[in-house]
Amino acid sequence: MTQISSDISKAIELLNKEDVVAIPTETVYGLAGNIYSEKAIRKIFQVKQRPLFNPLIVHIPSIDQLEKVAREFPIKAQKLAEAFWPGSLTLILPKKSNILEIVTGGKDTVGVRIPNHPVTLSLLKQLSFPLAAPSANPYNRISPTSSYHVEGYFGNALPMVLEGGECKNGIESTIIGFENNEAILYRLGAISVEEIEKIIGKIQIRNKSDTTPNAPGMLAKHYAPKTKMYLLDDIDEFIENNKSKKIGVLRFQGKLNTTRFEHIEILSKSGDLKEAASKLYSTLHKLDNLNLDIIVAERFPDVGLGKSINDRLERAIK
Ligand code: TXA
Ligand code: MG
Repeated sequence: MTQISSDISKAIELLNKEDVVAIPTETVYGLAGNIYSEKAIRKIFQVKQRPLFNPLIVHIPSIDQLEKVAREFPIKAQKLAEAFWPGSLTLILPKKSNILEIVTGGKDTVGVRIPNHPVTLSLLKQLSFPLAAPSANPYNRISPTSSYHVEGYFGNALPMVLEGGECKNGIESTIIGFENNEAILYRLGAISVEEIEKIIGKIQIRNKSDTTPNAPGMLAKHYAPKTKMYLLDDIDEFIENNKSKKIGVLRFQGKLNTTRFEHIEILSKSGDLKEAASKLYSTLHKLDNLNLDIIVAERFPDVGLGKSINDRLERAIK
């Protein structure tokens, strides 16, 4: 069985041997390997069953290591890095030529971030190489926000999950790239559009361009539970019309008029979107394990992290 352990030195040993280790970050758990090891990177794709065209994010411990992977650092990228690193922001930058093609899906750019998790920062500082790490879920499944989610997904296919507790932000990093000095948001995530725009002004949002392999890997169907799921503006009526079904409800705050559901999860009683985002995936994991016929989620307010939550819910129903 996969070993869940807090032993950083054991993780180092495995990574030095070109093996893979699941690591905690403040967003979600990642499935990590040495960016210079073709063997390790191939194992990541194989374990995850991920198509090779979908590039991985490179994780570094500090800004002085950025020059190992990126050959340019535009001024807007610098401002964002200063504001948000270590943290839940991935920057897409022109890559150094020694970065393996398999890491970047053959692109001339590399996605990079400094994660904000003490265990993984300590690990990264002790390694002589950065770590490539996609989220530690099988392709098209809900991202893991605890070591137990990872263990449940991969069992024996993985030698170790480095324990780091529950992920604080609980939703993937926000991804920003640059074209002609303009910033483009490719993935809504743990840092809201409003927070980004406070630093560099208005940005273009291209989160939905997910049909071609050239677009940043945001395939439409992602983050999906096995249980049939719906995303609605008003769930009371839906529930009344589906009384014979075992229904699980996922919503932001407050009570429903109807009580004809099997189970309800409220993501933030006090109406805090950050709290709601942090609980989103663990709640979906939980609902998915209750043997329900249907999960109905209620659309979140379309501001701040509500946008990121709605994005993930939309992908979960496809
Ligand atoms: O929060 C996160 O970002 C987590 C933790 C583990 O760091 N990682 C994560 O990785 O979500 P993953 O592989 O599940 O999602 C990475 C996304 C993919 O959609 C991928 O296509 C995009 O980043 N990406 C990576 N490198 C890229 C590049 N060079 N150009 C465009 N998109 C890129
Ligand atoms: Mg992922």
